[in-house]
Amino acid sequence: MKVHVFCALPEALVSPLEAGVLGRAREAGILDVEVHDLHELSQDPHHKVDDCPYGGGPGMVLRVDVVAHALQTVFCMEAWKVKEKHPVALLTPQGERFDQKVARTLASEETLVLLCGRYEGVDERIREHLAGFEISLGDFVLSGGEVAAAVIIEAVARLLPGVLGNEESLAEESFAGQLLEYPHYTRPADFNGWKVPEVLTGGDHGRIREWRRQQAIERTRIRRPDLL
Ligand SMILES: C[S@@+](CC[C@H](N)C(=O)[O-])C[C@H]1O[C@@H](n2cnc3c(N)ncnc32)[C@H](O)[C@@H]1O
Repeated sequence: MKVHVFCALPEALVSPLEAGVLGRAREAGILDVEVHDLHELSQDPHHKVDDCPYGGGPGMVLRVDVVAHALQTVFCMEAWKVKEKHPVALLTPQGERFDQKVARTLASEETLVLLCGRYEGVDERIREHLAGFEISLGDFVLSGGEVAAAVIIEAVARLLPGVLGNEESLAEESFAGQLLEYPHYTRPADFNGWKVPEVLTGGDHGRIREWRRQQAIERTRIRRPDLL
């Protein structure tokens, strides 16, 4: 899968892409992420990417001409046509809420384009003409879309075949179905008198499977009854 990220602060994104599962997925050639620095692609003599809002008010606004030129340069086509060829998501707190279902849908794409805002926000014409859809991580406001892009790429990448060492872990994970995952324990079996449930150390795999299923149901009922 190929992911293109367009952003004004690549430093905020680069290191998560190099670590752990994402780093390994990129090394294995399963995931290819290109981070495009809007400053570098800007035609402004000072490589500016933002300007004051029309009508006044606080903060700066990411310019539509800068984002359009960046898309056009990278994809060698008119900027507004990119969304007809590839999924182009604008990251914004006003978008559709990102969850495992959205991650699964995005993981089935060959290419994904993420447009990150910054400053006070983005020129509305980016949303209207350049983005195909909008994604929000949740009802809170980040300073920029780069961190949101890292979260989305990580959630999507671990669903790609071959990225996780043991793909069984995907099947039992929270949100894979209707349940949250069961609790995990490892050594020591007794720490400070805090004991691992006996069933897990007994070696009866049928009992362990059933215990885990019950735990998953119970914790979903208590914490997230809306999933059931
Ligand atoms: C400071 S925010 C702008 C918020 C905007 N003024 C508003 O109230 O809707 C700057 C950028 O961070 C990103 N961002 C902030 N919160 C986000 C969220 N919850 N999900 C996805 N992206 C977010 C977006 O790309 C946004 O353009």
